[in-house]
Amino acid sequence: MTKTTMTVNGKSVSAATEGRTLLSAYLRDGLGLTGTHIGCDTSQCGACVVHVDGLAVKSCSVFAQDIEGADVKTIEGMANADGSLSVLQQAFQDHHGLQCGFCTPGMVMSSAALLAENPNPTEHQVRDYLEGNLCRCTGYHNIVKAVMAASDQAVPAE
Ligand code: FES
Ligand code: FES
Repeated sequence: MTKTTMTVNGKSVSAATEGRTLLSAYLRDGLGLTGTHIGCDTSQCGACVVHVDGLAVKSCSVFAQDIEGADVKTIEGMANADGSLSVLQQAFQDHHGLQCGFCTPGMVMSSAALLAENPNPTEHQVRDYLEGNLCRCTGYHNIVKAVMAASDQAVPAE
């Protein structure tokens, strides 16, 4: 076991890792940040997406030791400083972009990365960007509406 240190949600943190410890396990088991969900553990569902140095990454596809020193953001770091929901999180709530909520942390993290890269995406660009995030419940339409609303654009019609 080795101690692996990185910055998570603005704080320097350390947890014991083996070479095979995935970033998702580091966050959930090592740091107790269980907002990062694990749906498949095989890089398919997107429930585990976090930001690593500003980029959306499936945390089940990265070894923690390989990103020693990185700047990581998880869903726990997405709310405003006063604890209120971010504009994007609020838009998911307002537009019913979640049902069971299992995919939601990954959807929010991926959508935030998209909006950072492209603040005014088209509906097609939103759908294309979220292609790696699976949702069993919503049919995706309300998720797309939420992302469009968060970017201050007209939401797609029903
Ligand atoms: S748990 Fe990482 S992509 Fe499904
Ligand atoms: S809201 Fe249930 S999986 Fe997406």
